[in-house]
Amino acid sequence: MTRTPFAPDRFWFGGDYNPEQWPREVWAQDVELMQRAGVNTATIGVFSWALLEPEEGRYDLGWLDDVVELLHAGGIGVVLATPTASPPPWFTAAHPDALPVLADGTRLWHGSRDTYCVCAPAYREASRSIARVLAERYGDHPALRAWHVHNEYGTYCWCDHVAAAFRVWLEDRYGTLDALNAAWWTTFWSQHYESWEQVVPPRATQYLHNPTQSVDFRRFFSDEMLDAYREQRAEIRAAGSSAPITTNFMLPTWNHLEQWSWSAELDVPSVDHYLDTTGPDGEAHVAYGSDLTRSWADGGPWLLMEQSMSSISTGGRITFKDPARAVRNSLGYVARGAQSSLFFQWRASAGGSEAWHGAMVPHAGADSATFRAVCELGSVLDSIAEVTRPPADGRLTSSEIAVWWHAEGWWALENRSLPSDHLTYPDAVRSVHRAAWHAGLEVDFTRPGADLSDYRVLLVPSMFALDDAAVRSLEEFVAGGGHVVVWPFSGIADENLHVVTGGYPGRLRDLVGLRVEHLAPLAADESVVLDDGSTGTVWSELVQPDDATVLRRYRGGDLDGSPAVTRAARGTGTVTYVSTHLDLTATRALLEDVAAAAGVAPVVADRPASVEVVRRRGAEHDYLFVLNHGERAACVTGPGVDLVAGGRTDDGVTVAAGGYLVLREDEDATWDVTTTG
Ligand code: GAL
Repeated sequence: MTRTPFAPDRFWFGGDYNPEQWPREVWAQDVELMQRAGVNTATIGVFSWALLEPEEGRYDLGWLDDVVELLHAGGIGVVLATPTASPPPWFTAAHPDALPVLADGTRLWHGSRDTYCVCAPAYREASRSIARVLAERYGDHPALRAWHVHNEYGTYCWCDHVAAAFRVWLEDRYGTLDALNAAWWTTFWSQHYESWEQVVPPRATQYLHNPTQSVDFRRFFSDEMLDAYREQRAEIRAAGSSAPITTNFMLPTWNHLEQWSWSAELDVPSVDHYLDTTGPDGEAHVAYGSDLTRSWADGGPWLLMEQSMSSISTGGRITFKDPARAVRNSLGYVARGAQSSLFFQWRASAGGSEAWHGAMVPHAGADSATFRAVCELGSVLDSIAEVTRPPADGRLTSSEIAVWWHAEGWWALENRSLPSDHLTYPDAVRSVHRAAWHAGLEVDFTRPGADLSDYRVLLVPSMFALDDAAVRSLEEFVAGGGHVVVWPFSGIADENLHVVTGGYPGRLRDLVGLRVEHLAPLAADESVVLDDGSTGTVWSELVQPDDATVLRRYRGGDLDGSPAVTRAARGTGTVTYVSTHLDLTATRALLEDVAAAAGVAPVVADRPASVEVVRRRGAEHDYLFVLNHGERAACVTGPGVDLVAGGRTDDGVTVAAGGYLVLREDEDATWDVTTTG
C-alpha cells in the first residue's frame, strides 16, 4: 500500500470534541476557549452515528456541517471519525444478528457502545455506507486534517457469522483439514476434524481450550477487523478524499490487533494511551507506549490520539492527574515521536457513562488548574513547532537497542494451559523496557524476523513461539556481531505452539549454548536469590550449560548452585540467557553491561535518577527533552537553545521540580545534568 504523506508542520493539539452533547451556545464558547488554549485540532463524530443517520439511509448532516464550519472559521482543523464503533438503536433493532455474542453464547444488547459483530454482513454494509456518505460530504473540506476510521477496533464475537468467517480464514491458512489437524494437534482429546463445518471458534467449553485454536482465533480476528478497516478506507478513497487515514490503537491493556500488519495499512499509526499508575512508573509507561507506537510507525512520527488531561485509571477508581504532570507527560510522548497531543475529551460530559473522565475543560470550567495547564501546553507546543520536521531518513531516534515485540507473543502466553499463569507477556516486556528506561538507554521495538541492521543489541523477553524466519534473523544478527539477551520461555515452540523437544529452549538451544531440562516456575509469593544478592520472581529453571559461561548462580532453595544467568560467546557477538524474572536493579545492570559491551551509550551519562532525558532527531537539528519527574530542581548545561524560554543554555538552565525543557542542540553537543537545591 502506498502511504499518503503525513507531514504536519506543527503539533496537533486538541482532542475528541463531542458538541452534540451540548446546546449551540456552548459551541461558540468552545471555539473561543480552544483559541485561547492554542487548540488546533478537534476529533469529531466518533460516537455520532445515531444523530448522523437517525434511520436507515436517512442522513442528518446539517449539525455536523455547522460544527465543521464553526471550527474551520475558528482556525481549528478536523480529524473526522467514522462512527462505526457504536451502531444506533435502529440498526440493532433491524439486525439483531449483528449484536455480539460472548463465548458462552450470551447475545449482548444495545445500551453501551461497540455492540456489533464485525463479521455480520449488515454491520459491514452499514459501516461502508456511513463512511461513504461522510467522505463524499467532507472528503475535500479544507478543515479536514485526517480520517479517524472507527474507534479502537477490538470487539470480539463468537457468533455463527464469526464461525463462518473463521472457517474461511482457516482454509486459507492451512489449505487442507489435514494441515489444520496437524497444526492444532487434534490427536489430543479426540479433537480430530473431518469437515470444515465441524470447526468452531473457541467458544466456552468444558475445560482448557486447544491453545493453537485460541491463538488462531486471535490471528483471524485481527485480520478480519483489518478487512473491515480496509473497506472503510476504500470508501473514503473512492469518494476522492486524499487526507491521511488512521485508526486508533489502544494501549496498554488491549491486545486485539497485530499491530505490525495493521500499521503497514495506516497512513500514520495512532494510539490511545491511558496511564495505569499514579507513581513514578507511570513516567516509564509514557515512554513504553511511545516507543511501541513509534516503532509501529517505522521509527517515524505517530499520533497520540487520546490521553487523559486530568485523570489516571487506577483499578476501578479515577485519580486526579497533577496538571504539571499532564504537561510533562505530553512532552514525553512528543520527545519520543508523537506528532500530536490529543485528549479524550475536550469538555467533560455532564451525563453519560464517562462523565467522570478527565477533560481539557473540566466540570469546574476554564477557571481551573487543568485548563490553565492546557493553555500552557498549547503555548509550549507552538514554541517547539520546528521539532515536527523529521530528518531525511525519517528515523526520529538513533536507538541501537531493539526489543522483539509481537501480539502473537502475548496471545500465546494467555493460554491457561502453560506452566505458570504468573508469566505474562506485558509484564515480561514492560520489565525489560522499564530497566532500559531507568538506564537512559534508547530502545525501539521490532517485529521478530525483521531487519536488524540498525541495531547492536536485541532483547527477547519471553517470546514463547518463534517461526523459522525469526530464528534465522536471530542467528544472522549474532553471526554479524550482535548482542542478544533472551529471557525465559522464549523460543520454546514453533508458530503452531508445538514444543520443540530435546531440552528448552528448543528453537534457540545452540544459540544460547545451554539446555533446560525442567522448569520450576514460582508461586506468586515466592522468590529466588542469586549469588550476587539479586532476586528473581515468577520463574526459575534447571539450566545445564553447554558452551555458555555461568554469570550468576541460584543461591539456596531447590536450584542452589545451579546457573541462573549465562552468556555464550558467538564470534564477536554474545547471547545472554536469563532464567528468571530478575529485579529491576539487576535487569538494569545487565542491560548496562550488555550495552557497554556493544558500544551503546545512554543519551546522557550520569544523570539524576528522576530526570529523564530524551533525544528526538529533526531535519536540521537534534532536540533534547529534559523531563524532571523529581522533587528537586535540576540544572542542564550544554551548547544549545531553550526553545520555550529562549536563550542559550551554555551556562546552565534550571528545570524546576516537575518541569521540563526542550532544547535545540548544537551539533555534537554533550550535556551535563545535575540536581540542585
Ligand atoms: C478510550 C475511548 C474513548 C473514551 C476513553 C476514556 O478508550 O476511545 O472514547 O472512552 O477511552 O475512557
